[in-house]
Amino acid sequence: MVCLGNICRSPLAEGILASKLPKNKFTVASAGTGSWHIGHAPDARSIAAAKNHNLDISNQRGRQFKTTDFDTYDYIYVMDNSNYTDVINLTENTAHKDKVQIILNELYPNENVDVPDPYFGMTNGFEIVYGMLDEVCDIIADKLIAKHA
Ligand code: 4NP
Repeated sequence: MVCLGNICRSPLAEGILASKLPKNKFTVASAGTGSWHIGHAPDARSIAAAKNHNLDISNQRGRQFKTTDFDTYDYIYVMDNSNYTDVINLTENTAHKDKVQIILNELYPNENVDVPDPYFGMTNGFEIVYGMLDEVCDIIADKLIAKHA
């Protein structure tokens, strides 16, 4: 799960998807394309939105996306079109490129809809983002379980 800062959207996406998958079969992680928040806990507003849904993401720590992630992970979901461009620019081959998807394309195929960045927005932006990610992660989890579990 990849966003810009790895403190708002992708930590929620990591926590939500991990909660829907059997822990012994899947590894879910998140990262930011930027380096500002390496080692930081998720934004307090993301932690609070997760807590509203009985999900604890407070132990996550920010990390920056790195090219070895293309080999470590089988699926790379980016939150928006800007993240997509940044991650695609780091790919070295078509196998890497094929792993990268705009996450909401799993819900709205080929529409390239962004998960909006709530960082500078309204407080309820985090709840809206939570709802979008919860909906799409249901689809992703069903797909991954059918294919791999
Ligand atoms: P995120 O939101 O990409 O959803 O984690 C952001 C968090 C921090 C910054 C940008 C986006 N920032 O510029 O520090």
